[in-house]
This record gives sequence, C-alpha cells and structure tokens, in this order.
Amino acid sequence: MSERKVAFVTGAGSGIGRATAGLFAARGYATMLADLNETGGRETEAAIRAAGGEATFVSCNVADDASVQNSVEQAVATYGRIDAAFNAAGIDGDAGRLTADCTLENWNRVIAVDLTGVWYCMRHQIPQMLKQGGGAIVNCASTAGLRGAAYCGVYSAAKHGVVGLTKAAGLEYAAQGVRINAVCPGMIRTPMTQAGPMKAVIDDMVVTTPIGRLGEPEEIGAAVLWLCGDDATFVHGQAIAVDGALTSR
Ligand SMILES: NC(=O)c1ccc[n+]([C@@H]2O[C@H](COP(=O)([O-])OP(=O)(O)OC[C@H]3O[C@@H](n4cnc5c(N)ncnc54)[C@H](O)[C@@H]3O)[C@@H](O)[C@H]2O)c1
Repeated sequence: MSERKVAFVTGAGSGIGRATAGLFAARGYATMLADLNETGGRETEAAIRAAGGEATFVSCNVADDASVQNSVEQAVATYGRIDAAFNAAGIDGDAGRLTADCTLENWNRVIAVDLTGVWYCMRHQIPQMLKQGGGAIVNCASTAGLRGAAYCGVYSAAKHGVVGLTKAAGLEYAAQGVRINAVCPGMIRTPMTQAGPMKAVIDDMVVTTPIGRLGEPEEIGAAVLWLCGDDATFVHGQAIAVDGALTSR
C-alpha cells in the first residue's frame, strides 16, 4: 500500500495522458497508468520510474466496462486508493469527413471510446472515492466539446457529451467530497494532432489562433494537477478551456 497520494490516468501511454502522469509523479503521486497501448504505457512507466517516481502500467480498454473495472481494481489493489483520476484516453476517429459521410463504424467507435469510455471510468472511480472519503476526477473533453468542430462531427458530439456528463455528475457528488471537472484542451502537440490525417489542417489552423502556436501536453497537465489539488477545492462541475484563447473569440 502506498502512503503517497494516488493518481489513475487513462491514455497514459501517449500525449496529454503521458505528460500529466509524469507531472503527477513529479508531484509525489503514485501513478496507475491505464492504456490500450502496452508499448506506450510501459514507456511512460519506465520514464517515471527512471525519474524516481512511482508508476504501474495496467492494460485497459476504456470502451470495455470489465476492462475499466479491472484497471480500477488493480489501482486499489496496488496503491490502496485513488485520490485523482484523469480520464484522458481518446481517439479522433476518421476525422476530416463531412457529417453525412461519417460511417456507422466510425460513429460507434468514437462514441464508445470518447464518451461511453469516460462514463465507464467514472462509474468505477466514483464508488471507490466515496468509499475512501473523497477524490477528484478530471475528464478530458476538448474545445470541440464547447463549440462545433467542423469535419469532426462525432468527435465534437462525444466531447459535448463528456462536458454534459461532467456537469451532471459534478452536481450529484459536490456535497460528498468527490470533485468532478473537465478540461477542454485547444490544439496540443501530441501524436493525435501531429501524426494523424488532421496534421496539415491543424498546422494551418494554428497560425490563425490568438496565441499562434500549439499547446504543449504539459500545459494541459498543469491544469489537471491544479484541478485535482487542494487549491481547487471549490471548483466543481466545470469544463475549463485551456486553449490559448481559441474559444474566446
Ligand atoms: N491533442 C489535442 O490537440 C487535443 C485537443 C483536445 C482534446 N484532446 C483530447 O485529449 C485526450 C488525449 O489525446 P492526445 O492528444 O494525448 O492523443 P494521443 O493519441 O497522443 O493519446 C491518446 C492515448 O489514448 C489511448 N487510447 C485510445 N483508445 C483507447 C482505449 N479504447 N482504451 C484505452 N486507451 C486508449 C491511446 O493508446 C493513447 O495512448 C483525448 O481524449 C483527446 O480527445 C486532445
């Protein structure tokens, strides 16, 4: 059992999840690294351990309720509790298509991972946090969850869903010591934006953003750490944009 605070991070094998897990570990949290991608998850685990932090990888498919339940149980078995959960696993699917051209397969896949996956995580994290007397959950939405994102209809729908789910759950558990918020990143330098089919589109769009650059994954992680920490104890049920003023226009 760990005497440290414990952070559970999905999507910890890459990008925003990986960077945030690293920040949690640097802040002294023991970290449970949940991801479908074992190679990426093990790399994050090795990097955190090499830096002197505490990390354990667990294989997890957030679109599979039993897999999520197992990973949450593994976290509790390994470290005894979950103080902070960052639900960052996500996909952009077959982005770049018009809404009428989205396939049923793509629709179902993106909703399953990006929306239902967040609910699966919360439905196992919340009872654990209630049992232990409190905790903080941050769901990773997107600026695409605050306004429309053309050519990413299902992604935008799923992320709006994450914002709605976060607000509803934030209302329900505010008085019980479980704080539930969402972070809404703008365009961030990760494999999702830099290795996928949207790279050229995103690189063009970034030039016209107020800040004129991509965000770094650690800039999202810093907001997540704040949301999970003792400086944010009155912050409940919010969806906070961290986007270089992208949505301020
Ligand atoms: N990069 C951006 O600009 C941006 C902007 C807004 C929101 N987001 C959101 O941030 C989150 C992280 O994205 P990222 O940019 O770091 O992407 P990424 O592709 O670098 O990392 C996503 C991680 O999620 C994991 N994952 C995917 N499907 C999974 C599943 N079914 N079960 C478990 N793990 C799974 C992947 O293996 C990967 O390690 C996502 O929810 C994404 O929608 C990203």
